[in-house]
Parts: sequence; C-alpha cells; structure tokens
Amino acid sequence: MTSEGSAPPSLPRHVAIIMDGNGRWANLRGLPRVEGHRMGVRSVRAVVECARELRIPCLTLYAFSLENWGRPEPEVIALMTLLKEFLVSELPLLLRHRIRLRVIGETTSLPFAVRQVLEHTVSATAGNTEMTLTLGLSYAGRNEIVRAARRLAAEAADGKIAPEEITEEMFSTRLDTAGIPDPDLVIRTSGELRISNFLLWQSAYAEFAFTDVLWPDFGKAEFLQALEEYSRRHRRFGLTTDQAVKPPGK
Ligand code: FPP
Repeated sequence: MTSEGSAPPSLPRHVAIIMDGNGRWANLRGLPRVEGHRMGVRSVRAVVECARELRIPCLTLYAFSLENWGRPEPEVIALMTLLKEFLVSELPLLLRHRIRLRVIGETTSLPFAVRQVLEHTVSATAGNTEMTLTLGLSYAGRNEIVRAARRLAAEAADGKIAPEEITEEMFSTRLDTAGIPDPDLVIRTSGELRISNFLLWQSAYAEFAFTDVLWPDFGKAEFLQALEEYSRRHRRFGLTTDQAVKPPGK
C-alpha cells in the first residue's frame, strides 16, 4: 500500500474524474441532495491539493454535464452557486500553487454571474504553469466533438483547409481540450461503470479506475489508491506487450 503523501511510482500526466454519488451520499443521510454537492466540494479541494503535491500536471473534473441542465431548477441553481463560491474561495490556493484554471464545455449556457467569475479566475491564473485544473461545465463529449467538426467545416468552407487534409491532430486542436494531453487515467466514483459522455475523443487510450466510494467520501487516500492501481497497469496502445509501450505516433 502507498502511504499517504508518498507518490506512487508511475504517475499519470493527466487524471480526469467523473465525480458521482453526491445525491446518494445525501440520501443515505436523510439530507437534501445539495448537501451532497456541498460535501463534494471538499473532495474537489482534497484531490486538487493531492494532485498538485504529487506534481500531476493535469487534472480534469466533470463538474456539470450538458445533461445536468435537466435536473430540478433548485439543484441547478445550488450547483451554480457552489461553483461560484468555489471559484472565489479557491483563487488564493490556485495562485499560491501556480495552478491554471481552464474550462471545457458549452460555457455560453452558464449564468452570466458564473461566466464572470470564471473569466476572472481563468485570466488571473492564465500564467500559472505548475498544473492545469480543467473543469467540465455544461460539458458533453459528443457536443464538443460536433462543435469541433463545425469549426473544421467552417474552415474548409472558407477555403482555409482542404477536407482531405484533416488529421486527428487537427481535430484535437479544435476540441475544447486543445493543448491538454489526453487523459491517462479516468476515475469514476459511486460504483457506476459508464463514461457518460465524458472526454469521448480524448479517452481513447485512457485507463479506467472505478470505485464504489461516493464522491463526498473520496479523498486523498482514495485518490492515491486509484493512482496506485494505474501504476500497475500495462498500457499497450494496440501493440503487443513486447513492443514499446508508447502511445501511437508519440
Ligand atoms: C454527480 O453526483 C455530481 C454532480 C452532478 C456535480 C458535481 C459537483 C460537485 C462535486 C460540486 C461542485 C463542483 C465544483 C468543481 C466546485 P450526482 O448528483 O449525480 O449523484 P447521484 O448519482 O448519487 O444522484
């Protein structure tokens, strides 16, 4: 077992997390769902701090999916409020630890007040280079892929690119995650074994770690356990075990 605070031997460059189980955590305690989300923010803080301590360069959190807009309005409002509060309260931590904040998703759908705080946090942390914390907000993988396809189609229609010259790399640079390496490890909490429209293109070669732990109970120890599990995996990227274990084309 890895003891708390010590880095597992082979670390991912990019960890992405589907934070699930806040509602069930609250239900189990007879609390309103929003209390689960509130406790979920504590887990966000713990994981960000742990990733930073371990010098993991990229962490992406699925905080609000495009589909989540369909939840009851009070829950959506509560999530937006928590998000705003988080961005305000954590800015000093992001600056102190030189963490850059990025956002992926259809952010134009977010309330104006949230977009304002987001823009402020993104620009205030833009020069930070120690770690990139990316939040998936109003995010859905298929929607992101369609928006990237539209961008390429518009460039082709303008005569800037030829359709037959479009490559995977060009496609990647039109995604919201442009410039961020693909996730090496995707973690999902709460016992659900689904990808739920998260980083569909980017997770082509990701390792997956599923845990029954509900997100509000997910802390540093659980994060280290997932990293340890990852370090034991043998990534082959479609090659044989004897071949070099490098991503294709890298
Ligand atoms: C999934 O649990 C979780 C969400 C939809 C929201 C995640 C949000 C947070 C952790 C807090 C705010 C985020 C930040 C970055 C400050 P669920 O509600 O689907 O749980 P259930 O499946 O048990 O109902």
